[in-house]
Amino acid sequence: MSRALVLETFGALPRLVERPIPEPRPGHTLVRLSAAAVTHLDLNVVDGRFGILPDLPAVPGTAGAGTVLASDTHPEGSLVQLRGKALGLRRDGCWAEHALVPDAAVEAVPAGTDPALACSYFSPVGTAWAAVHPVAAVLPGERVLVTGAAGAVGALTVQLAARAGAEVVGVVGRPAKLAHVPPPAKAVSAAELSPEAVGGPIDVLIDTVGGPVLRDALRLVRPRGRAALVGYTAGREFTVDLADFLLADVSLRTVNLMSRAAEVAGDVRRLLAELTAGELTLPIERYALDDLAEAVERLRTGEAVGRVTLDLG
Ligand SMILES: NC(=O)c1ccc[n+]([C@@H]2O[C@H](COP(=O)([O-])OP(=O)(O)OC[C@H]3O[C@@H](n4cnc5c(N)ncnc54)[C@H](OP(=O)(O)O)[C@@H]3O)[C@@H](O)[C@H]2O)c1
Repeated sequence: MSRALVLETFGALPRLVERPIPEPRPGHTLVRLSAAAVTHLDLNVVDGRFGILPDLPAVPGTAGAGTVLASDTHPEGSLVQLRGKALGLRRDGCWAEHALVPDAAVEAVPAGTDPALACSYFSPVGTAWAAVHPVAAVLPGERVLVTGAAGAVGALTVQLAARAGAEVVGVVGRPAKLAHVPPPAKAVSAAELSPEAVGGPIDVLIDTVGGPVLRDALRLVRPRGRAALVGYTAGREFTVDLADFLLADVSLRTVNLMSRAAEVAGDVRRLLAELTAGELTLPIERYALDDLAEAVERLRTGEAVGRVTLDLG
């Protein structure tokens, strides 16, 4: 038998159940999961508030890592990460001790990698890379403002923008998070956002927070500057005066990791080695399978620092 978190009703938390280990079948890989990520995307699915949703009952979890038990394609006993192919969206995902997934959703990771890191890194690193490079095209010497700068995506965006040669200012909502903005960024509280606080005009805004924070931060970008929108934890909507928006002349671009995953995958894999070596940092919070409610609460309230993961043994 195998334990799994099963979502029975959108808007309620999944229930921990015992069920048979899935039977191997061609084209699929059976994995004993060691860790699974708990992300805002997963919470949107649990809430029934995403454009792609599973038929219920279903196991959520869009990313995981574990050991191959049976597969025609992947070596048994190898450490792998699971993501993509609609895992946790249209088909059962990774919030379970065992998962049977399409072979194409399985990717090898170097032996010895921390499974919590293996299941956590791709989305924030890929999103941060896409935001800094293909989308916002940050140049050396530019001044970059990152909101949610102590969050998983935000903290990596700060580090990658600084590596691209930018001068980075990181914005946080909770004063307690000021200390979690990675160096060398200057850390600023969202309540004090002003041209003076951020040290003058901004060339590029990378916003991971949305809502009113996006509205306020956009005002700090210079004419002909760029803004890249990544997330909407602080609100799915904001209103804009179109006359003022045209006058400000800031181009608003979107970051969509799903559409850019293949484009950034090579760079993201390369950066995993740097995360393992501690040259890039991504804090990880770890929770037991029966502590899902606490993990979800930490993420929903914005109190979590870095990635939230389930330890699956
Ligand atoms: N576009 C894409 O392809 C893509 C890919 C991955 C993730 N995302 C999105 O990017 C966003 C950030 O993801 P993440 O993994 O970095 O999340 P995270 O680690 O939880 O960070 C989000 C940050 O948002 C801030 N925040 C502000 N208002 C909040 C609120 N009302 N509730 C919760 N947090 C609030 C929090 O920082 P403060 O305490 O400083 O306010 C928190 O550190 C999410 O919306 C996620 O869905 C988008």
